[in-house]
Amino acid sequence: MLTFDDEVITTNPAVDTLSSSAATDAASARIRVEDKRIINCKADVNQLVPFKYKWAWEKYLAACANHWMPQEVNMTADIALWKSDKLSDDERRLIKRNLGFFTTADSLAANNIVLGSYRHITNPECRQFLLRQAFEEAIHTHAYQYIVESLGLDEGEIFNMYHEVPSIRNKDEFLLPYIDVLTNPEFKTGTPEADQALLRSLIVFACIMEGLFFYVGFVQILALGRQNKMTGAAEQYQYILRDESMHLNFGVDLINQIKMENPHLWTAAFREEIRGLMQKGVELEYAYAEDTMPRGILGLNATMFKEYLRFIANRRCQQIGVDILYQGATNPFPWMSEMIDLKKEKNFFESRVTEYQTGGTLSWD
Ligand SMILES: [Fe+2]
Ligand SMILES: [Fe+2]
Repeated sequence: MLTFDDEVITTNPAVDTLSSSAATDAASARIRVEDKRIINCKADVNQLVPFKYKWAWEKYLAACANHWMPQEVNMTADIALWKSDKLSDDERRLIKRNLGFFTTADSLAANNIVLGSYRHITNPECRQFLLRQAFEEAIHTHAYQYIVESLGLDEGEIFNMYHEVPSIRNKDEFLLPYIDVLTNPEFKTGTPEADQALLRSLIVFACIMEGLFFYVGFVQILALGRQNKMTGAAEQYQYILRDESMHLNFGVDLINQIKMENPHLWTAAFREEIRGLMQKGVELEYAYAEDTMPRGILGLNATMFKEYLRFIANRRCQQIGVDILYQGATNPFPWMSEMIDLKKEKNFFESRVTEYQTGGTLSWD
């Protein structure tokens, strides 16, 4: 592998001091695509190309093309509604607890990427996506903060809910050990146990946190939007949901690629452990649904969420190739799929095109 001290890194032909044998060594040290690996890669991680994982690069480009910023969304109607007497106490509780989870969840997500998983993913095209993803998590935290500020909510109350509201705290406490293992400076991949610990954390993060723990919250605010309530917040959540589906899909591709390159990690015992974690995730998210909607509102109730979470958990299991947990679970919110799959359609709540592009794609015509 090249280091910055190697004279062979010289690229200016005018100062080419290489002997022909050194030049041959340098050429043989060039990155070969077949040497690239997602984890434990020995090839230079500073060279983006040649690409091996085109799916990672394509997702990076797609994520950049979907760039958006929270302040672009008009919050006037939400502010007027929040100040009016047209929201019930249950709706206000739902909105506050929803923000109480999300305001800190995306900071957890960003820290997990930057301080944890990024260090252990030894592939530059995947790292390129992770850098974009980390910025999107910052945008999401910004969006929740922007909603809290626009509505004039008590910041101390909302931002401390992850300490103070058990149904939120329990979800975060479930996640923390899987984040901590990767952010520990002593942690290194390279043994089957350590590689399984990394894979386990990636699965918890993509499939349970981003792929399950966000979904009750997304359905709640998007359901409000469908009733023409909190449409600014709902528009923000729609952009966030679009980003998060991309994070989930990238995570699934990453997990499956690691499995393919390291089949010895994917033991029957490990798969069973993952199913157990998924089941625990469903229980925690259901408890959160019950706590945020104790009486059922918006045509939604906690029982519908039980079925929805079972349906989603099955989907996550299938995506990474473990046996499903809940036979026959169906989707009680088919409109959510439309929201996720929305591509060039108009925004669900307003007339704005959702898949707009800001400077992501240059045209020279
Ligand atoms: Fe996020
Ligand atoms: Fe995310």
